[in-house]
Amino acid sequence: MKITFELNGALTTVDSPPLARFLDVLRDTLGLTATKEGCGEGECGTCSILVDGEVVNACLLPAIQVFGRSVETLESLSDPAGPLSKLQESLLATDGAQCGICTPGMVMAGTAFLRQLKATGAQPCDRSIRQAIAGNLCRCTGYSKIIEGIKMAAAQGTPQESAHD
Ligand code: FES
Ligand code: FES
Repeated sequence: MKITFELNGALTTVDSPPLARFLDVLRDTLGLTATKEGCGEGECGTCSILVDGEVVNACLLPAIQVFGRSVETLESLSDPAGPLSKLQESLLATDGAQCGICTPGMVMAGTAFLRQLKATGAQPCDRSIRQAIAGNLCRCTGYSKIIEGIKMAAAQGTPQESAHD
């Protein structure tokens, strides 16, 4: 069936079985491979995307559920030839970009968190950052540098604003 939705700011239509995993639609049908697969069971957060601004596990999302909605993937945050988002820069600066499996999901969850901070005017603390990335697992190096990176980005503004400075 034809499924129309907004993908990274552009109106998009895909022809997909309604119950196909949206992760597969992104990677295989649309060629957007920045979103990774880890567990495939909704446990690790590697496949995190934003749907109407909320963090969602694409591996558990039936394609039909994006109909008429706004989807953002990691590709939306920076152009391969252009500057990285402020969060991506901050994660690099703090050595919080640790591996290619967990980092994409961490960036998406962190982006949603930074937007929430901006909308509410709240100040980030370790606890709130840990809560924001609670659905994103790292099984090897730990979370302290990731938290440091998100905190650094929060002190500098939202990723989207900074990406186009
Ligand atoms: S791959 Fe989707 S939550 Fe692990
Ligand atoms: S799983 Fe990516 S750094 Fe641990």
